[in-house]
Amino acid sequence: PSESQIPGYTYGRAEHSPVTLDELKELKASVLFGEQDAELLRRVGELLDDQIEDVLDVWYAFVGSQPHLVAHFSQPGGAPIPEYLQAVRSRFGQWIRDTCTRPYDQEWLDYQQEIALRHTPAHKNATDHVNSTSVVPLRHLIALAVPISTTIRPFLANREDSAEQVDAMMQAWLKAVVVQVALWSRPYANEGQW
Ligand code: HEM
Repeated sequence: PSESQIPGYTYGRAEHSPVTLDELKELKASVLFGEQDAELLRRVGELLDDQIEDVLDVWYAFVGSQPHLVAHFSQPGGAPIPEYLQAVRSRFGQWIRDTCTRPYDQEWLDYQQEIALRHTPAHKNATDHVNSTSVVPLRHLIALAVPISTTIRPFLANREDSAEQVDAMMQAWLKAVVVQVALWSRPYANEGQW
């Protein structure tokens, strides 16, 4: 679907992030994210573009197989909510595209803050009007950076023979994911300690 038709996807309409562009610059420097990584990510986006549903199948199978994760797409102490899983899935697919193709500018930073809040009591469940857990614990948010990264390797290797090229793209993707998880940790941190 075109991005404007994705329910709950409010890119370009999010509130101003409390994170500054300077802080973003520092985070990018900390993970050694450079202009070359931005280029590599655009290539990741091209290679993944027609495989995004397959990537999402792998991620959802993983989350679905882990009770401590699927719990946050479920009624508190109860069953998974299919409409919730489906609605988030569409935005997740768009997130892959955004991570690869959007400039990391003010608009991007603002939507990062919105994604962060959607994992916390501030905004979780509100977008899809569901009754689920009130927060994704920060420890799981951080830990998920590993499967979110390692699982894309076979999809890149489907389309790129050079292992060296695949390695370079994997590194760029990992950096982009870690920068975002760092941004998303902000609402969880004590005032002045982020
Ligand atoms: C929402 C990515 C970790 C559960 C989302 C969205 C994205 C995303 C892109 C949709 C944002 C939007 O609405 O546009 C990620 C990434 C993670 C991560 C990259 C780690 C690196 C987790 C973990 C859980 C989780 C560990 C636990 C099960 C959820 C839930 C939502 C969501 C329940 C829907 C929140 C709501 O709007 O109610 N995530 N996520 N996420 N994620 Fe995550």
